[in-house]
Amino acid sequence: MEETNYKKRGALILIEGLDRTGKTTQTIALMNKLLNEKIQANLIKFPDRSTPIGKLINTYLIDKETQLSDESAHLLFSANRWELKDKIINNLQEGKIIILDRYVYSGVAYSSAKGLDFNWCLNADLGLPKPDKTIFLNLENDQDLINRKGYGEERYEVKNFQDKVKLKFTRFFNDKNWEIIKVDNKTIDQISLEIWIKIKDLINGIEKPIEFF
Ligand code: TMP
Repeated sequence: MEETNYKKRGALILIEGLDRTGKTTQTIALMNKLLNEKIQANLIKFPDRSTPIGKLINTYLIDKETQLSDESAHLLFSANRWELKDKIINNLQEGKIIILDRYVYSGVAYSSAKGLDFNWCLNADLGLPKPDKTIFLNLENDQDLINRKGYGEERYEVKNFQDKVKLKFTRFFNDKNWEIIKVDNKTIDQISLEIWIKIKDLINGIEKPIEFF
């Protein structure tokens, strides 16, 4: 039997996707399922709009008059993740599962879709903990997206821009630990079940160290 020196830790599970693809619904559903199963878990949504940096980001997102250079906006989103790095690591080491609603990949995909260099974008996040599993909710027919309630209220909810973001996200599709779930024409419960199948092996803890970007 293989020897290991590592204490069991919790898993870092990320749900990613374009705007309005159901990430928030699914992260909340997953969180509730884990709590029902008496598994300790925490949900963190990025951007976390409650922190000082998060408040700046919120203003930038909802007030289209607010001007920020693309680089500054990118670094704010990244700083918002760094604000929560210790909390994430501590929770994992305490054996808790962390569910993330967006993370580093959103940062890279959205900012590089604006024309910033892909690797420059990723550099700002190097050193953050890497998810053990990333689930990308993939809406293949984008027309559905535009028809969803509330679409267009925030800065990036413009079809042409979302197409560019999607293209950037596809650069991660073959990464280790990525899983793509097609969401078109599926119910919330069907998608929840698919997510559960993909993460259920991780819920009892992981016996290897946290990886980092
Ligand atoms: P939300 O709708 O999930 O709250 O995200 C707000 C917007 O911010 C969404 O359009 C995606 C964008 N975003 C970035 O541009 N960079 C980032 O690092 C993150 C986390 C989100």
